[in-house]
Amino acid sequence: MAVLFFTACQSHLPEANYNVIPQPKEVNLEESAKAFTLSETTEIYFADGLQREAEFLSEYINDILGYGLKVNEYQDQPDGILLKLAPADFDQAEAYEITVNPKQIVVKGADAAGVFYGVQTIRKSLPIGELKTANCQLPTGVIRDWPNFGYRGMHLDPCRHFMPLDSVKIYIDMLALHNMNQFHFHLTEDQGWRIEIKKYPELTKVGAYRNGTVIGRNGRIYDSIRYGGFFTQEELRELVQYAAERHVNIIPEIDLPGHMQAALASYPWLGCTGGPYEVWKRWGVSDDVLCAGNEATMQFVEDVLNEVMDIFPSPYIHIGGDECPKVRWEKCPKCQKKIKELGLKKDDRFSAEDYLQSYVMNRMAKVVEARGRRVIGWDEILEGNVSETAIIMSWRGTEGGIEAARKGHDVIMCPTSYLYFDYYQSEDPSTEPSCVGGYLPVSRVYEFKPLPSVLTEEQQKHIIGVQANIWTEYIKSFWHVEYMAMPRMDALTEIQWNNPKDRDFEAFVERCRHQAKLYDLYHYNYAKQIFNPEVYTDTVPTNLATRKPIFLREQPNEQYASKGAPILNDGEKGRIAYNSGRWLGFWGQPLDAVIDLEQPATMSNVRFRALVNKGAWIYNPSHASVLVSDDGENFREVAQLDIPITTWVDKDGNFTYELTFEQVKARYVEVIVKDHMLPEDHDGYGHPAWIFVDEIEIN
Ligand code: ACM
Ligand code: ZN
Repeated sequence: MAVLFFTACQSHLPEANYNVIPQPKEVNLEESAKAFTLSETTEIYFADGLQREAEFLSEYINDILGYGLKVNEYQDQPDGILLKLAPADFDQAEAYEITVNPKQIVVKGADAAGVFYGVQTIRKSLPIGELKTANCQLPTGVIRDWPNFGYRGMHLDPCRHFMPLDSVKIYIDMLALHNMNQFHFHLTEDQGWRIEIKKYPELTKVGAYRNGTVIGRNGRIYDSIRYGGFFTQEELRELVQYAAERHVNIIPEIDLPGHMQAALASYPWLGCTGGPYEVWKRWGVSDDVLCAGNEATMQFVEDVLNEVMDIFPSPYIHIGGDECPKVRWEKCPKCQKKIKELGLKKDDRFSAEDYLQSYVMNRMAKVVEARGRRVIGWDEILEGNVSETAIIMSWRGTEGGIEAARKGHDVIMCPTSYLYFDYYQSEDPSTEPSCVGGYLPVSRVYEFKPLPSVLTEEQQKHIIGVQANIWTEYIKSFWHVEYMAMPRMDALTEIQWNNPKDRDFEAFVERCRHQAKLYDLYHYNYAKQIFNPEVYTDTVPTNLATRKPIFLREQPNEQYASKGAPILNDGEKGRIAYNSGRWLGFWGQPLDAVIDLEQPATMSNVRFRALVNKGAWIYNPSHASVLVSDDGENFREVAQLDIPITTWVDKDGNFTYELTFEQVKARYVEVIVKDHMLPEDHDGYGHPAWIFVDEIEIN
């Protein structure tokens, strides 16, 4: 009996599962073969240059299984886990291969980064939380894997709210866990300057602290709490080293020439008016920017960039370029003199001041390039005549990236609508920590296609990478950063690493479940909506219309067409996010839907829902009518409803409209919902309002 029991136990050791996040490209198992048994006595052997990778693997095994492994320099071909380099066996950087047999696990990399990603895959494949201090088995087989994009990044803004050094290290750990290799560190803002610059000490003495912060959203009420912090150069060098060990490069951003009010507060001569300025206490885009006509200001930027490049060995230096209002430059004698001097002229595309911004950006690009680095800028830098060497970060959608790739720029995609991780993850913000707004569920991140099909294959090669951004106006703590990042990072890494042709969201969520066990192990705070979808779905009672054939006489706007007409009677109703895929959006067209009840039915009531989001140009409908037919051709109206336009004092939200009529019997029901024109007190006056309609019920 004892022997039998022992054998049974052996075969039920917890097993590793190589289908991790991101999904390795090739996993070939030998199902019937004996597995490798990992235990406390297993040792790790590393080839030259891979000691840190070996130590990481031992640490990870300790985190997960409760025992570390002995780490040795590589000799012969001992049994155990072997880490080695084999650049000749791969045709691209960061690739790896893991071969598992009962005696050995060999992790072979194109380079140390490749070995590191192989180690990450082993780490993520281990059984987690089942039996700590347990032996476990790694199935025999071969895994081959390589990234689709060489640039795989995440951004963090420690300016609006400061994130201490230890938190930033955790962020880098998170990047490494998700096979990301670029950390875009946004170090300067209107609301705080966060990097010590020896030549300009006031930047951190004055510029790193604000005397209060706006309360709530758009108001002008401030707390009076001095708020701030900064990183010393010594801390940043330590961080660079910490990241490099994890194969993460840190890209510092000095945001030029806008978003500079904290610098202006430190040295008022940097601005056009000379101030006085204060470190900004509210969110948005400040009109006060660097004076482009002042040589001393240009020298300042050069000096700052040089100190930044002394600290950060990054091949890329980000020089910002986003959201720079030109109102000060238009009135500044120095800026206007510079425009004359340079012979800059407005044309039908851009103003002279836009070209002045290009002048600043190109001049600073030269400073960066003189030291063998490349500049990255936000997509606004395309407005003017930016030099082709600049890498464009496409954030206001993908259009900037498309234009840039066509012009021959390299491009990093991070459009707000898919990759701004400062947006909500659920449709009901009351269930989440408060953030800037928007709606970006994990499923939408997972849909992002970084290579626009309008580009040729040659142009697509300019899309060098993908990243997500986390701005922190409403994110006050690192606890909240973690929540915003995960599990959306899981979707992001699958796109960065694999850009899969066919995406199976449900299979992905299954992989996420295992990844979430790692999040639990490391005490990461993460969003859980994808694991409990039922909690986040609103259903309507089954009614005559539910899931019956439905078609539209007018097509919705293609941006908000979702899965088409069946959205309207699938039994699930949208909440308040117009881009949730649960609403059909119409602009300048009515909703005109015909439902076939499949047999004559008796009815006396039709209900539908519409959204109001006045800021987004979405208004309630003006008119609704219900028609019925026996043959699907000849319809007669049975009810209509006039709906007065909502006003600014009315609440936005999700409203149900109801048409009740004398009982009729019919097979076909047509529902027509018409729009209002935007009213005089709206920015979009003169245009039609959008209507967003969902779930139609017939009873
Ligand atoms: C940005 O979000 N202003 C780049
Ligand atoms: Zn000026």
